[in-house]
Amino acid sequence: MRKLQALEMVKISKSFQGFFANKNIDLHIRSGEILGLLGENGAGKTTLMNILYGLYQPDSGEIRINGESVQIKSPLDSIHQGIGMVHQHFMLIQNHSVIENIALGYEGTPFFFPKIRIKDRVEEFSRRFNFSLEPLKKVWQLSAGEQQRVEIIKALMNGADLLIMDEPTSVLTPREIKDLFHTLKEMKSQGHMVIIITHKLDEIMEICDRVTVLRKGEIAGNADTAGMDKASLARMMIGRDVIFNVKKDPVVRGDRTLNISNLIVIGDKGGPAVKNISFDVFESEIFGIAGVSGNGQRELAEAITGIRRIESGTVKVGHRDITNLSPRKIYDHGVSHVPEERIKFGIAPGLFLYDNAILKQHHLGKFSRNIFLEYGRIKTHARSLVDNYKVAARSINVEIKNLSGGNIQKLILGREISEKPSLLVASHPTYGLDVGATQYLREQLLIRRREGGAVLLFSEDLEEIFELCDRIAVMFQGELMGIIDSGDEEKLADIGLMMAGSLRY
Ligand SMILES: Nc1ncnc2c1ncn2[C@@H]1O[C@H](COP(=O)(O)OP(=O)(O)OP(=O)(O)O)[C@@H](O)[C@H]1O
Ligand SMILES: [Mg+2]
Repeated sequence: MRKLQALEMVKISKSFQGFFANKNIDLHIRSGEILGLLGENGAGKTTLMNILYGLYQPDSGEIRINGESVQIKSPLDSIHQGIGMVHQHFMLIQNHSVIENIALGYEGTPFFFPKIRIKDRVEEFSRRFNFSLEPLKKVWQLSAGEQQRVEIIKALMNGADLLIMDEPTSVLTPREIKDLFHTLKEMKSQGHMVIIITHKLDEIMEICDRVTVLRKGEIAGNADTAGMDKASLARMMIGRDVIFNVKKDPVVRGDRTLNISNLIVIGDKGGPAVKNISFDVFESEIFGIAGVSGNGQRELAEAITGIRRIESGTVKVGHRDITNLSPRKIYDHGVSHVPEERIKFGIAPGLFLYDNAILKQHHLGKFSRNIFLEYGRIKTHARSLVDNYKVAARSINVEIKNLSGGNIQKLILGREISEKPSLLVASHPTYGLDVGATQYLREQLLIRRREGGAVLLFSEDLEEIFELCDRIAVMFQGELMGIIDSGDEEKLADIGLMMAGSLRY
């Protein structure tokens, strides 16, 4: 018998400095159900789940468990009630092993032989929920998917009957998403309940029994997924119809913008992550790099933009050799970057929104005179980014870390694209964006292309790659398996084989 059979949130409200992130929200879930929590960027999803997990206190409203009102004042209370949460940014200690990480947060850690006993329990849980995990590996050796499994097992071992997952799939490879869904279905069949936040409507349709949709902090609706499709979900979320496919006009490409020649880059674990890669990207071209992430894409993007050292080979932009220049110099040569690790490389979390709107551009003439920053101009610029990229923020005078995940992403994108770089390196630019923002961003990339910009797009989403790119390269184990023209239907059909490393053109 599970201790948590049914949970209700009743008329929950939460405001920050007079702004309602959640207003009168009702939500319910019971044993054996998977509930999708949907809504545009900034709709209040993370805030609501942080309340349930005890990280925030609601201003008003009530949480009921098995019909009885409970107080959840901290994550510890929440764990005692049978609730576990997997955050979007994992909170594991990198140089501890899997079992050491689990032991740290585990109430039942035995006094004698803790490691052996915990290892046994980890293995038991792995068997029960069908997932593979090597308990003795250090966390830094694990992929994102494996780290997520550690978080899940941690929650389950602490007795979680309800598991909350905030955008769990955005960091996973397609294969890992399959495995995760397999585990979630297994949990469901054993009577657990899951609340999952995701922007990917296909995933909602696949895994969820029901959805609760938020819009601007309020409930926009509830529905069984069986009676819904992608279009109706999107309409409920945004309040209007969404176009799922943007249209790519034929554009004649111009001169060569980027030239990569025999590039070798070393990865974090010491071996070569990029192995002798060469390719060009032209003006008015979107060049896509497809492939399962972890095959050298991140290291390639970092090498081009100056974050990671190039072992040998050259990178040229126009006629300039930018190999191993500083990120700032590379930026000054017209290369913008939307990084994969946005919180680490994309923003300064403690600074205000308007400061973040001109990061890396402080020294440019338009924002400074002599040694003084021109705050008037900076703020005007920040306001126009917020308007154009529909960043949901109360004002530009807030600390950026208080924005929702998707809105931080929109600001970075706006900042990097609006300068009209000759080359934009964009790594997974639509991760974490809602459907409306995704559509808007894709249109912006196509506009850049029409204006003569070159775009190097890293994405795991084949739909996105096919929709936007003029040419597509597939990366596998640090090498390019081939470059395909987007018109070449025959070769495009083989892209899956290339991604798996079993075909090379
Ligand atoms: N600690 C905070 N201080 C001030 N405002 C906050 C704080 N936390 C959240 N907010 C605001 O509350 C609103 C809802 O944010 P929340 O993170 O819940 O959105 P979300 O639905 O998770 O969006 P996303 O899909 O982008 O992750 C946003 O406008 C955000 O700026
Ligand atoms: Mg969120």
